[in-house]
Amino acid sequence: MLILGIETSCDETSAAVVEETGDAARPWAVRSNVVASQVPIHREWGGVVPELASRQHIRDICGVVERALEEAGATWSDLGAVAVTQGPGLVGSLLVGVSFAKAAAAAASLPLVAVHHLAGHIESLVLQNGELPLPSVVLVVSGGHTSLYLIERPGRYQLLSRTRDDAAGEAYDKVAKLLGLGYPGGPIVDRLARGGNDRAVALPTTRLTHADRNAPELKGDLDFSFSGLKTAVLRYVNGKKGTGTLSDGEVADVCASFQRVVVTALLDRLFDAARRYQAKSIGIAGGVSANSRLRAELDARGGRRELPIFLPSLALATDNAAMIAAAGLRKFREGVLAPSDLNADAALAL
Ligand code: KG4
Ligand code: ZN
Repeated sequence: MLILGIETSCDETSAAVVEETGDAARPWAVRSNVVASQVPIHREWGGVVPELASRQHIRDICGVVERALEEAGATWSDLGAVAVTQGPGLVGSLLVGVSFAKAAAAAASLPLVAVHHLAGHIESLVLQNGELPLPSVVLVVSGGHTSLYLIERPGRYQLLSRTRDDAAGEAYDKVAKLLGLGYPGGPIVDRLARGGNDRAVALPTTRLTHADRNAPELKGDLDFSFSGLKTAVLRYVNGKKGTGTLSDGEVADVCASFQRVVVTALLDRLFDAARRYQAKSIGIAGGVSANSRLRAELDARGGRRELPIFLPSLALATDNAAMIAAAGLRKFREGVLAPSDLNADAALAL
């Protein structure tokens, strides 16, 4: 069966066709995965402007879906279902995808599946690598999210922890902005960090030990926090600016020192959780999984612990509709369909 996936939760308009392979170990294959990025539009503002994002989704959605079908060599009559991101995300952006998917499913008499954006990121690992050895602990780390999930059964995602404040990608983007490096900041900081001394700037690490009053069901000690780190970078940079501008070498040192603290925080929690839940595999999904230091240290630590590690390709790491189609196929096979009055939900829980 072929499924059409649609993703418009933030600033990428994406449509993809994914097919079932019939192989239980490697259940899905990408037939097409088209992404129209809005980065050039938002760059000017230093971050995503929600109103501009939703307007651009409206301009792009029809063409992106047509191209995804064309590249897959498929027509509407070849499809078995439509999957769409219901949330979380920017509500105006989500509404474009949800409205389009509802209309298309109704017009083509296809079943509709509603997908949680983070379930999509998690299933990107299966789409890329095949089914994970379970139980698995997966870190979803992007511009909007930094969360750890335990997966004991396919398609069941148990939240273990999340960030109390900024997402890791958001911290990257904010640090890049205060260093005047441009948007999105993650890839730029990653590149400059390679030329810097990661011990040059003393930056704080945050280790939370208590449960969060807003989420008493979580123990809290695996939670993340990045806003203090971002403030420490700001103080350091402002202090330096008092004595002139930062040299290229100093900027690289800030990037390297910041990146060391972020990567250590992410991997420490991930491996703590893997030990606690006796995971047979670990994965990292989401835009920040593209980070070169994160990938290198993950490899090294996974190798030392003899734990298989899973990552998506770069195309499947950042927001894309193929991961939504994959998560949609999983739900479709479980018989979970969306009602025809499906609505977008900006704060959808997983
Ligand atoms: O998953 P994604 O495309 O969108 C969200 O759902 O947020 O992630 C985008 C985030 C941005 O914050 C971007 O700066 C970050 O991922 N990112 C990186 C790298 N590449 C992208 N962060 C660190 N290092 C990278 N190489
Ligand atoms: Zn995402």
